[in-house]
Amino acid sequence: MILGWKNFKLTMGLPSPVELSPPIVLQPSSTQKKVRKRECSFTETFLKTLIRSGRTFVYPFTPLSIMSDKASLNFGDSTYSLNVLIGSENEKALDVRQLRKDSGLITFDDGYGNTGSCESTVTFIDGDKGILRYRGYDIAELAEKSNFLEVCLLLLNGELPSSQELTAFESKVSRFQTLPAEVLHAVQSMPGGIHPMGSLASGLQALGGACPHLCTNDRAQDIANFEDAAALIIAALPALAAANYRKKVGEELRVSDTSLNYCENFLSMMFAKDGDAPVNPALSKALDVIFLLHADHEQNCSTSTCRMIASGGANPFASLAGAVSALWGPLHGGANMAVINMLNDIHNSGDDGSKFIQSAKEGKSRLMGFGHRVYRNYDPRAKILKSACDQALEALGVSSPILDIARRLEEVALQDPYFIDRKLYPNVDFYSGIILQALGFPTDTFTVLFAIGRAPGWLAHWKEIAQTGKRIHRPRQIYQGANLRPYLSIENR
Ligand code: CMC
Repeated sequence: MILGWKNFKLTMGLPSPVELSPPIVLQPSSTQKKVRKRECSFTETFLKTLIRSGRTFVYPFTPLSIMSDKASLNFGDSTYSLNVLIGSENEKALDVRQLRKDSGLITFDDGYGNTGSCESTVTFIDGDKGILRYRGYDIAELAEKSNFLEVCLLLLNGELPSSQELTAFESKVSRFQTLPAEVLHAVQSMPGGIHPMGSLASGLQALGGACPHLCTNDRAQDIANFEDAAALIIAALPALAAANYRKKVGEELRVSDTSLNYCENFLSMMFAKDGDAPVNPALSKALDVIFLLHADHEQNCSTSTCRMIASGGANPFASLAGAVSALWGPLHGGANMAVINMLNDIHNSGDDGSKFIQSAKEGKSRLMGFGHRVYRNYDPRAKILKSACDQALEALGVSSPILDIARRLEEVALQDPYFIDRKLYPNVDFYSGIILQALGFPTDTFTVLFAIGRAPGWLAHWKEIAQTGKRIHRPRQIYQGANLRPYLSIENR
């Protein structure tokens, strides 16, 4: 039986859940049953059933182009001919899918720097040219003309929504921000020392537990109900973050206000007190831009984690909880905190940034928020955030000494041969932390903000795997451990 919202037990006078659309329960046709037996549930027949149900959108891959030129690999007495594949932006890849079968060799690429793990239609990056596009749209144009919820639909469905689709999505997300009481209770009952990212990951799993029909691990059901699951997750993340924060600072939960837009509502759930003036639109706009700029970044650590989990058949809630955990680390989503800590340290030491730059050049420290594995040119998101930062601080009417230091660091670094030669430019984290701090977010919530922004990207990748993935992700390894040896009884060790 599929549980509906009415089955939830309300506790503690916390907000009541809102109505979800009736769950779709797919009865597999005899063809699909046969297909399932062959463990391949993503057939054309199956996708057609979903499309007919009007609840899903399949963004097709065009068949991969193969170059007429082949690569060849000589090993021992044999020569192996390898196809060269071309993507839609002309990137080329050696096709090694048959290599192990044909030669017994595997490829070794520690850290995956040279490995294409999938085909994807979601995001294109050209790091040398500083290009970032979601579904073909340039990030700067989206930041100027679109907004976060519209970009969510673009990423999830592959196309910009009509105004009716956008309005329906906005109202659904707004309604879903009132979370089931048992989920809020679960978040607020966690140990006081839990990090906001730990709370967020656990909160997502709790949310899945509160709506089991959206996370069945039956791929057909999970795809059929994906629209609701995606809207619920996008709606829930700010509410989960606010529930954790309010508990930490000892304040009552604030119920979601459906008259506010997504970012205004988040700022209100986090910080508002009765009688406060409405949120300044310039500030909610700055937050919206931060979310939009983080919405996807192709196969980064957390997104690859999400896809890996999804490839095993796990539902969106479990896959995103894993992605949140992957994002937590300081080399990934945690860098925005490190920038603020660095700027504060420079400020507190009385340095204007010059001494710090010198120590970074001598390898004694790292200029956090500078450099990127992919971008060898200016990170296009940093440019946009730099001016968003100026606007947000102007709207708040505050001057920030750490912004002055950040500007000086950038100015000096961009003229210094050390940074020029190494192609080190500001990345997305250089200015985002300054805006978030000015908005009142504590540093340990910065990565949570990154997660809220990245959720539509993770969901789009979950959907892509769910609809087109054929095999569980399972890399190989080069074993470097002990060879076979006999068991030693404990008294002989
Ligand atoms: N400050 C000073 N020197 C640097 C920096 C930096 N921020 N980044 C790289 N270098 C130097 C590095 O010492 C090395 O010099 P040398 O050739 O003399 O040994 C050279 O530049 C190449 O560095 P790398 O570590 O090989 O570059 P990478 O591609 O492996 O690392 C990075 C990329 C982002 C981890 C690194 O630039 C870094 O640690 N930056 C600071 C942390 C940061 O801002 N991270 C956020 C990344 S953006 C968030 C996201 O998109 O997920």
